[in-house]
Amino acid sequence: MPKLRVYDSKEEAAAAAAEFILGKLDEALQDARRATLAVSGGSTPKLMFEAMARREFEWPKLQLFFVDERPVPPGHPESNFSMADAALCQPVGLEAEQVHRIQGELEPPVAAERYADDLVEAFGLDEEAAPRFDVLHLGIGDDAHTASLFPGEPLILDRSGLVGSVYTSVKKSYRVSLLPKVLLNAANTVFLVTGADKAKSLKAVLEGQQDFLAYPAQLVDRQAENVVWFVDTAAVAELDR
Ligand code: 6PG
Repeated sequence: MPKLRVYDSKEEAAAAAAEFILGKLDEALQDARRATLAVSGGSTPKLMFEAMARREFEWPKLQLFFVDERPVPPGHPESNFSMADAALCQPVGLEAEQVHRIQGELEPPVAAERYADDLVEAFGLDEEAAPRFDVLHLGIGDDAHTASLFPGEPLILDRSGLVGSVYTSVKKSYRVSLLPKVLLNAANTVFLVTGADKAKSLKAVLEGQQDFLAYPAQLVDRQAENVVWFVDTAAVAELDR
């Protein structure tokens, strides 16, 4: 199957991404008692989470993690956790211990440290090791950021940390985000990108000169393994291919 999978609508792209993700998690469960998924926030994934929640899966075997979080408590409209909780966790009945929330209510550096400790414990990591998610879900911004690594962010070049707190002048806000060492270590990486507002950044990421600081999502697309893009026709409108 192609790396770039184009669908007529954002609903079809989201449903296809949901089916692919659950298929990869099912594969992981052939060899393990649990499957690990890390999800991004923002607005695009809501349709995907809702599509996942409508499908059969051994939900008690899922361990759900977050790619990044805004500096807000659960329940805040900006909370990535709260969006996933309402669209996926609650509908499928995930238990609290299955959901590894980034504690956005804490000071960002503290939240980053706590989340890194959670990853170390959840994956039983040795010093220097990185968690290897069975599936990592990412989006991109209209500036080609991914996770919370925005253009020009020095942590894009970091290859030692697991989680960082970053200040984004674009959003005039802090974020807590997984760092490249983790983003590049997943067994499967799924980008879900829809909408005409992403057409320019998607072209830069997929067809532009390599410049990871300018187009952070390029780093994952070009250095992670098993990367698949689920996109709609609006998002690919500017691609040459
Ligand atoms: C976040 C996400 C971020 C997201 C992009 C796209 O916290 O916002 O993790 O990386 O994937 O910003 O967001 P939209 O889906 O809202 O366009």
